[in-house]
Amino acid sequence: MKPVEIKPNIFWVGVIDWSIRDFHGYITPKGTTYNNYLILDKEVTLIDTVKEGFSEVMLKNIAHLTSVDKIKNIVINHIENDHASALGNVMDLVPSAKIFTSAKGKEGLSRFFDISKWDINVVKTGDKINIGSKTLLFIETPMLHWPDSMMTYVCEDELLISQDAFGQHLATSARFDDEFINACSLNELQDAVIDYYANILMPFGFIIKPKIEELNKLGLKISMIAPDHGIIWRKSPEWVINKYLDMANGKAEEKVLIVYDTMWKSTEYMTYSIAQGVKEEGLDCKVIKLRATPLSWAITQFWNCRGTLIGSPTLNNLAFPPVMQFLQYLKGLRPKNRLVGAFGSYGWGGGAVKEIYELLKNMGLEVYEPGIQLKYRPSLEDEEKCFEFGRGFARKLKEYHKSF
Ligand code: FEO
Repeated sequence: MKPVEIKPNIFWVGVIDWSIRDFHGYITPKGTTYNNYLILDKEVTLIDTVKEGFSEVMLKNIAHLTSVDKIKNIVINHIENDHASALGNVMDLVPSAKIFTSAKGKEGLSRFFDISKWDINVVKTGDKINIGSKTLLFIETPMLHWPDSMMTYVCEDELLISQDAFGQHLATSARFDDEFINACSLNELQDAVIDYYANILMPFGFIIKPKIEELNKLGLKISMIAPDHGIIWRKSPEWVINKYLDMANGKAEEKVLIVYDTMWKSTEYMTYSIAQGVKEEGLDCKVIKLRATPLSWAITQFWNCRGTLIGSPTLNNLAFPPVMQFLQYLKGLRPKNRLVGAFGSYGWGGGAVKEIYELLKNMGLEVYEPGIQLKYRPSLEDEEKCFEFGRGFARKLKEYHKSF
């Protein structure tokens, strides 16, 4: 592929992974990209690499611009394998290149590679290197996404190379936000930003706000943000910064989501009446059956909606395993600022609703109680109870939403 110049003498040399549909368990129906960047200056500098299976493509991209052995510096903003696993292939070709990374980056690289002969230079926030006409400033961003993560700011070009942050899993021939919006839509781009944030960065929302404030305090003017996935923000970098601030502040839509699974449709029938009850109160209600939906998609919908109801039949006195899988995934993402409740059908002892409430309370979420538990198939009277449960949840949600 041909490189794309994103700023004077700074080129995207990454790859588009059109076919990936499962990114370590995260479903990526639109593929992704592994972006990395080459700066042609007195000291040719590569920022990040790509996923190892794509080394050959990246090296050819670079060869369009210069001989690979001209690379003097390699900045590793993030060591996760989708960005750093091709580093070994690059170092085979330029073994004397200097590597710049965070202290945790160096530690992490030592677990993936034999670094004994590599010239690794540890950098921290505020450190700068001059590579000729351009100056690179490093900013540590631990846990956005891993402990090693950092960003690189090219001072003369007001360019923030932000690794995972501000990325999206989108394989697209558009390289820039304005190109993508022209070819597709802002809504599609926004969905991709939210989907990525919900599944990758939700646990770290509390870090995002202070980190953006820190960037402001450093007085950095940002005219372009170049993440390691998806499109590059050249027209509206402030749009994605504001979107991140909104998400970090817990912004969500005043809508209800029902996620459920079912064995013999009794719990499913309960969702019909509950959803109608929610609608009766004037709120939109989405319904997701878990075994029919990728977990990452269900999580994105959870993130979008201020309130979620979780439906599960009881199996052996406990919640149904697909529901538990969702809750386990959700727990790891440390959700906040959401109202939740539970319901389900049972045959004799029950137990699922109780178990789900215990888990939701342990997560520190706002719970709507009591849940509703029905024996076997809902009767007409039970349907009315479900309808009222949905109405009650929606009313509570409207109150709760006002606090944001
Ligand atoms: Fe795209 Fe945390 O790696």
